[in-house]
Amino acid sequence: MLHTRIIVAKNPEEVGKLAADVFEDVLNRKPAGVIGLATGSTPLPLYRELIKREQEGKIDFSKVRSANLDEYKGLAPDHPQSYRKFMQDNLLDHISIKPENTIVPLGLAEDVQAMCEAYEAQIEEWGGVDLQLLGIGHDGHIGFNEPDTYFPGMTHEVQLTEMTIDANKRFFDSIDDVPRAAFTMGIGTIMAAKKIVMVVTGSDKKEILRKTFWGPVDPQVPASILQFHPDVVLICDEAAYPL
Ligand code: GLP
Repeated sequence: MLHTRIIVAKNPEEVGKLAADVFEDVLNRKPAGVIGLATGSTPLPLYRELIKREQEGKIDFSKVRSANLDEYKGLAPDHPQSYRKFMQDNLLDHISIKPENTIVPLGLAEDVQAMCEAYEAQIEEWGGVDLQLLGIGHDGHIGFNEPDTYFPGMTHEVQLTEMTIDANKRFFDSIDDVPRAAFTMGIGTIMAAKKIVMVVTGSDKKEILRKTFWGPVDPQVPASILQFHPDVVLICDEAAYPL
């Protein structure tokens, strides 16, 4: 809790608006800034707000670069459940960001090591992530960094836990269609971001949120490492706020 700023909003819509304020502030100061993006349902109100704010002339994405946290292994970019497709549908197709300025780990990568290294290299060439958006999984995962005995450093392949597969099955026809593996930025990649905004909503996230920011820093709760990041803004709704 050393450096975490906490904002408690009334509901998910307000969480989206407050998170959009952070994006607006960072990108107005740095129009070619690098943003780290996340999937999941929690960021959707934020993405709707960002689209609206560009239409209103409050944000300009034309010079912005974006790097996504993660992608399912084995899914093509145009697969309906791929995270690339999710990002196109929910944000990227509706703002002025240039397609060549957006990256998502390649689900179909044959040489996984080379793809992961190239991903890190691209972020570094852009000068690092200025603002990283995070949601949180029920087991405390960020990106797809699952509970482990250590904090993984860089972009890598992970095996998903049963809890995560179960939580994400709602997007697939059946649980058997949910990929068992994924590629994700590492905890090191995430911690290298200059600023982090985490959005959390709903009473089902209350317990993991308590463990994350009010418990010990422990790789079994990957998000707890955020207590050591110098600039984290946590925006949660009243239902998720644990105190
Ligand atoms: C997935 C993503 C995470 C996201 C999590 C929570 O596992 N890889 O980045 O934070 O889902 O999603 P939701 O916001 O839908 O609860």
